Amino acid sequence: MREQVLPNATAAIAAQGLKRQFAADGRLVQALDGVDLCIERGEHVAIVGRSGAGKSTLLNLIGALDRGYQGSLQVFGQELSRLPDRALARFRNRQIGFVFQSFNLLPHLTVGDNVMLPASFGTPIAAAEIERRARQLLQEVGLGERFDQPPGQLSGGERQRVAIARALLLQPPLLVCDEPTGSLDAATAHQILDLLRQTQQQSGATLVVVTHDPLVAALAQRTIVLDRGRVAGVQA
Ligand SMILES: Nc1ncnc2c1ncn2[C@@H]1O[C@H](COP(=O)(O)OP(=O)(O)OP(=O)(O)O)[C@@H](O)[C@H]1O
Ligand SMILES: [Mg+2]
Repeated sequence: MREQVLPNATAAIAAQGLKRQFAADGRLVQALDGVDLCIERGEHVAIVGRSGAGKSTLLNLIGALDRGYQGSLQVFGQELSRLPDRALARFRNRQIGFVFQSFNLLPHLTVGDNVMLPASFGTPIAAAEIERRARQLLQEVGLGERFDQPPGQLSGGERQRVAIARALLLQPPLLVCDEPTGSLDAATAHQILDLLRQTQQQSGATLVVVTHDPLVAALAQRTIVLDRGRVAGVQA
């Protein structure tokens, strides 16, 4: 099934004929093979699909981490492939909070410094306010006592929660999360999702969550099913 894509300049994310190819072992892998989708500002959308369906590939493009795509991808009206490197980095820093499937915490920084990392790439917010927010977010994810520890001492689920606090630090208008509850027990997962949804509802942010968990997907307003690099269905 093809999702109906209407031209919409006010959408948070609009993809048309979006393709991403990788060369691996001399072969070409078509990770995304013509994705059409439109996600409205303030919407909470889940992306599901089998392992290898292209979910992380799509999220990396939406999150402005990769722009080696063909077709069109507009985030807040910006065609990402047209932005020069520095503008893209700036766009990512200002507009996007990214929770990686593999957390991507920096081992040589403390937990607190990891959470405050997005501020080090430039923000008009004062350092004291950044630290206050970081401490509060760590409190909210249940890790208030871990501010000065290195992340190496944390469990997988604790690292995941640090990664979520980091993504929320600058209150970005777009939150993209790749399996944000993959390493969490059901109760903690529920708590974390509440925090993400609260943030989304209070700030009007757009929330895109890749998940294998049907309970996590059920919380979204819409679920987009990816299969072999294409949109195979949309469930309201
Ligand atoms: N950097 C890369 N180089 C080569 N192939 C890649 C690269 N990144 C992704 N792929 C391939 O593209 C396809 C889609 O991968 P992707 O990581 O997007 O899947 P996914 O849906 O996120 O899977 P999972 O649920 O396991 O995380 C896979 O076949 C994968 O091997
Ligand atoms: Mg993935």
